[in-house]
Amino acid sequence: MAVVSVEHLNKVYESRERRVEAIGDLNFEVRPGDFTCIVGPSGAGKTTLLKCLAGLLAPTRGTVRINGRPVTTPPEEMAIVFQEYGRSLFPWKTVRENVELPLRERGVPKDERRRMVDTALEAVALSHAADSYPWQLSGGMQQRVAIARAVAYQPKVMVLDEPFAAVDAQTRADLEDLMLRLWTELDLTVIFVTHDIDEAVYLGQRVLVLSSSPTRVMDDVPVDIPSPRTQAQTRVEPEFAALRTRVYSGIQAAKGRATNA
Ligand SMILES: Nc1ncnc2c1ncn2[C@@H]1O[C@H](COP(=O)(O)OP(=O)(O)O)[C@@H](O)[C@H]1O
Ligand SMILES: [Mg+2]
Repeated sequence: MAVVSVEHLNKVYESRERRVEAIGDLNFEVRPGDFTCIVGPSGAGKTTLLKCLAGLLAPTRGTVRINGRPVTTPPEEMAIVFQEYGRSLFPWKTVRENVELPLRERGVPKDERRRMVDTALEAVALSHAADSYPWQLSGGMQQRVAIARAVAYQPKVMVLDEPFAAVDAQTRADLEDLMLRLWTELDLTVIFVTHDIDEAVYLGQRVLVLSSSPTRVMDDVPVDIPSPRTQAQTRVEPEFAALRTRVYSGIQAAKGRATNA
């Protein structure tokens, strides 16, 4: 059975001044253990989709299911990492306290909490920074704190919204490899939104290309590049080039649709 299923999802933002149909009619399923990347033009409704998946926003029509259950509130088994990690970490709390927060909210006992935080910090290679404050860390390290916080309570599904958009290229490459390692080691199902085509093909087992609003699925591209992938090798393989061309064309077509609309 699919872990995530999106059925005829439609989302309209309505206010007195305007009406925006952000998502037209979205349909897709995500299998357990898959790494799905989602790309699409800016304003395509990617963040809106993730908010619906995460139970933070109610669909106008249609249903999102996690493990068969319709999502109405934030699902227990899902963790989210947003783009703006700067704003998602509390500056007055240490790294350890930031990672611990969702565990506290879930009422995990103190000793167990400590163990889970230690494991999560170790997984993102930040054990040494446990007692630092987020503002004392680089952008890449801050994003690793956000990732540690997401994996600390051992989610089944991890959803990320353009998480590496604000870091430099080298840091980004390291964070991508960190995500691939966590995906394998922690047996996660990952839904990863990015506007970077190369990143989508490098990370994904599958790339969903969304159209501009009102959004639908333009293309569903299987990525049959073997794992483990490496920054040096994978990106120069002919298969990689062919896939990025296909995704790129899909996005161009999606933009073209918008211009002609
Ligand atoms: N809270 C909101 N109220 C009204 N319109 C919104 C709101 N959030 C997003 N939108 C609109 O919905 C569309 C999709 O936005 P978004 O989901 O942020 O796209 P993406 O993440 O793909 O860039 C855009 O036209 C955006 O302006
Ligand atoms: Mg967005």
